[in-house]
Amino acid sequence: MRSKIVAGNWKMNKTRSEAKQLITEIIDGLKNVPGDKTKAIVAVPFPFLSDAFLLTEKISAISVAAQNCSSQESGAYTGEVSAAMLASTGVEYVIIGHSERRLYFDETSTELTQKIKAALKNNLIPIFCIGENLEQRNFGKQNEIVKAQMQDALSSFSKEDISKCIIAYEPVWAIGTGVTATLVQAQEMHLFIRNCLAEITDTKISSSIQILYGGSCNAENAKELFSCPDVDGGLIGGASLRADTFLSIINTANSLH
Ligand code: PGA
Repeated sequence: MRSKIVAGNWKMNKTRSEAKQLITEIIDGLKNVPGDKTKAIVAVPFPFLSDAFLLTEKISAISVAAQNCSSQESGAYTGEVSAAMLASTGVEYVIIGHSERRLYFDETSTELTQKIKAALKNNLIPIFCIGENLEQRNFGKQNEIVKAQMQDALSSFSKEDISKCIIAYEPVWAIGTGVTATLVQAQEMHLFIRNCLAEITDTKISSSIQILYGGSCNAENAKELFSCPDVDGGLIGGASLRADTFLSIINTANSLH
C-alpha cells in the first residue's frame, strides 16, 4: 500500500526566524501525532534549506524539499540554484513545474524535463506538478492537458526514473482560491493520471507512484480528499504556513493508514 505524504509548499513566505520557529513548532507537534506512516515535507525557500535540514535531520517523519531547481548543472547562470547545490544541503525532495513557475516564469516542458533529469542525477526526488487551468476545465480539456504535461515532461525517462517521482495534481483554479476539487473530480483525475503513468511505465510502477492533491486543501477537507483511493496525500500551500493546521492535516493522513 502506498504511504501518504503531506508536503507544505511555503512559496515565498516567512523570514528566517519565522521559518525556524514554524519548523520547530511542527516538530514539537509531530511528537503528539499518533502513528508515523505519513511523511511530512516542508518545501521552504532556498535561504532556509540548511536551517530546515539541520532542524529536521534526526526526525524520520519529516523531510525538506526545495521549491525549484535549475535545469543547468553549473556555471554562469546568475541567480540560479543547481540540483547539486540543493543535494549538498541535505534536501531530499524538489518541487518541479509548479503552475506558478509555469505561469510567471514561463517554464516549458523541455525545461522541466531538464530539471527532473538534474534532480534525479543528484538523487533528489522530484515532486512534479501538473494541472489544468479553469478555462481548460470549462472546455472539458483537463484530461488532455494533464496527459500532455506528463507525456511531454516524462516520456524520455526510463521506467525506473519515473518510478522515483512523486506527482502532484494541482488544478490551477483551486490553488489559493478556496475552491477545492470535488471528491469525484479529484479521484477521477488521480485515477486518470495513474492510468497515464501505466502507459509510460507499467501497472506495477504506476500503482506504486504517490499522487498528491494540491489546491486549497486544508484541515477541514483533507480527510475526504485523502480518503479517495488514488489520492496519496497533499501538496499544501496556505494551510502549511501555520503549525496547527499543517499538523492537523498530517494527523488526518496518519489516521487513514
Ligand atoms: P494552496 O496552494 O493550498 O494555497 O491552494 C497549493 C499549492 O500551490 O501548492
